[in-house]
Amino acid sequence: MTLAEVVIIGAGTVGSVLARGLRKAGLAVKLRPLRRGLPKQRVEADLVVLAVRDDEIAQVADRLASAGLLGHRRRTVGVVHCAGALGPEVLATLRAPRVAVAQMHPLLSFADRQAPPQLRGGYVHVTGDRAACRLATQACRALEMKSVTIEGFDLVLYHAAAALLANGAVALVGSAQAALETAGADPDLAGAMLAPLLRSVAENVARLGLPAALTGPVRRGDLGAVRAHLARLSAKTPGQVALYQVLTTAQVPLARALAAASSESPNEGAAEKYDAIAQLLSDPR
Ligand SMILES: NC(=O)c1ccc[n+]([C@@H]2O[C@H](COP(=O)([O-])OP(=O)(O)OC[C@H]3O[C@@H](n4cnc5c(N)ncnc54)[C@H](OP(=O)(O)O)[C@@H]3O)[C@@H](O)[C@H]2O)c1
Repeated sequence: MTLAEVVIIGAGTVGSVLARGLRKAGLAVKLRPLRRGLPKQRVEADLVVLAVRDDEIAQVADRLASAGLLGHRRRTVGVVHCAGALGPEVLATLRAPRVAVAQMHPLLSFADRQAPPQLRGGYVHVTGDRAACRLATQACRALEMKSVTIEGFDLVLYHAAAALLANGAVALVGSAQAALETAGADPDLAGAMLAPLLRSVAENVARLGLPAALTGPVRRGDLGAVRAHLARLSAKTPGQVALYQVLTTAQVPLARALAAASSESPNEGAAEKYDAIAQLLSDPR
């Protein structure tokens, strides 16, 4: 079962970026915008990717199934969708003797087709019928992405984790940018200053993992700095105090884990410092 021909239905951000990547890898790819309607003729492909909005997936699958556009070839065709929180069952109406279905969810952030993320090295969660998973895995390999299948995976929780990081990080940048502007930075400069900082954090996480990627006053047990931050945020940008409290509190267990793992002597008294920081954050008055 060799992957050669791919049809992507849905020419949004993900569909367009996957199409470009698969073409670059030498595959024959047809990209079809959903708004142009479903193909009128039988679909000649080894793999059909439904890169449409999550709430359209089931309906598109039903329409493909009832139109009888798949399953006519000697080889099994795989049909996959790209949604994170949905398993293969959303495509169940398509299942037939030579039609297999799966989820193929790229765990990357696609914001703009003209500024695609680096696909190489990214993970893709693949789960579903064996034949469809095999074809999806070949597509991932062509994109130089890593396919993973986690048995019994809670896909809604998986997607919540992805959204917490990918979308939460953007909201966090917005919050930090607003604070920089209040501090006196020009908006364009504030945005430009934050991107390299965020990139350095991602690189620390990639190279060192947790808890070693943590830096800053909580890691250092610097109660005075945290107190000063809280006071200034309360005075100048009070809407950001709650976010600062939540995210700084979440650093305390990481700092404790780092201190516990360290063999250096300055960690004497670390537990008390972290207790004091946690106490201040829970009741900053
Ligand atoms: N974006 C991400 O970071 C990301 C990451 C992983 C997985 N996914 C998943 O990938 C799938 C596709 O997501 P996407 O980010 O590519 O979504 P998208 O850019 O919004 O495109 C998805 C669909 O929305 C349609 N669409 C776009 N603008 C429209 C408009 N103004 N009016 C009507 N329809 C419009 C497109 O139609 P046409 O086909 O007609 O152009 C396309 O079929 C989803 O299942 C999503 O959960 C997304």
